[in-house]
Amino acid sequence: MSDTESPIDLTQIFEPIRDDLDAVELEFARQIQSRVELIPKIGKYIQNSGGKRVRPALLLMASRLAAYKGDQAVLFASVVEFIHTATLVHDDIIDDSGVRRGQKAVHLRWGNEITVLMGDYLYIKSMGMALTHDTLDVVRLLCDVTLKMIEGELQQLKKNGDVEITEDEHLDIVRRKTAYLFGGCAEIGGRLGEVPEPQAEALRQYGFNLGVAFQLIDDLLDFTSAEPTLGKPIGSDLCEGKVTLPVIYLMQRDGKASSDLVRQIVEAGSVTPDEWQELSLLLKEHRVIDSAYDRARESAEAARRNLQVFPPSAEREALMALPDYVLSREH
Ligand code: IPE
Ligand code: IPE
Ligand code: MG
Ligand code: MG
Repeated sequence: MSDTESPIDLTQIFEPIRDDLDAVELEFARQIQSRVELIPKIGKYIQNSGGKRVRPALLLMASRLAAYKGDQAVLFASVVEFIHTATLVHDDIIDDSGVRRGQKAVHLRWGNEITVLMGDYLYIKSMGMALTHDTLDVVRLLCDVTLKMIEGELQQLKKNGDVEITEDEHLDIVRRKTAYLFGGCAEIGGRLGEVPEPQAEALRQYGFNLGVAFQLIDDLLDFTSAEPTLGKPIGSDLCEGKVTLPVIYLMQRDGKASSDLVRQIVEAGSVTPDEWQELSLLLKEHRVIDSAYDRARESAEAARRNLQVFPPSAEREALMALPDYVLSREH
């Protein structure tokens, strides 16, 4: 985001679906009930830690566009937040990341063993919830996008620390780990409203492109934001061995000098203040943050174009605002 723009307020975009989002919170709280005390305890800890609820909102907004009036949208919106939450608690173990949503990551509070099982519980619970309606096609879709996400995490691990990763390989990881789920959220909303096939496909594409932009901005914020704003540590991707788009562009443009610095940070698994300053200067000098931002903007614009198969409406406008939000977001 440039200095002159102010971030777009998510609360405002979500205003038309506020009641449904409140219902999602109730459903989430209801579904984490269990006689095994740890489950509601950790479940509440996660639920009350914040989180933007972008995926449930996307599903709800798409279902509005599809003129869906039934009660399944709230349930499926809760399902996608369960899946996302499971992802996060496992992801923080994998990434050895101690702060999430501005508070201690679950594994730091309860340990890896409990956290793995809690993630498993959330995954299976999400599928159990999705099966309460007679909509096997939606369950299949949810399985597909969740498997894509796990494949993305695995591919990322396989490429971990590889400073020779290509832009295409990196974008493939981005699509799998984030974009398919976003695509699934938008598509489910459309399918609930039984929109014609081309519109369901357009919604899927819209969500997918939005998801690519969302992850690319997430990766950018890891260089440009600050922990109190972002709610998770800064600079951690590179220290974890994740070579993301700004760094890929930097090494393309600057060659050996930058590659050596990047390799040094990745190999040490940590960055000194001097190295961070040097890296920040290089990123600026070679304008790679701008280029990575441009790549995110391309996907955000593609998302907006995907919606053009729908006639203009307030519901379509609400979805049109999400790509702008994603580009302007600060956390
Ligand atoms: C974080 O997702 C993981 C990514 C895909 C980048 P969010 O930024 O949606 O996380 P919360 O739910 O708002 O914390
Ligand atoms: C996104 O990856 C998490 C998944 C979609 C599995 P990141 O590792 O970049 O997410 P953060 O930065 O920890 O939120
Ligand atoms: Mg992570
Ligand atoms: Mg990240």
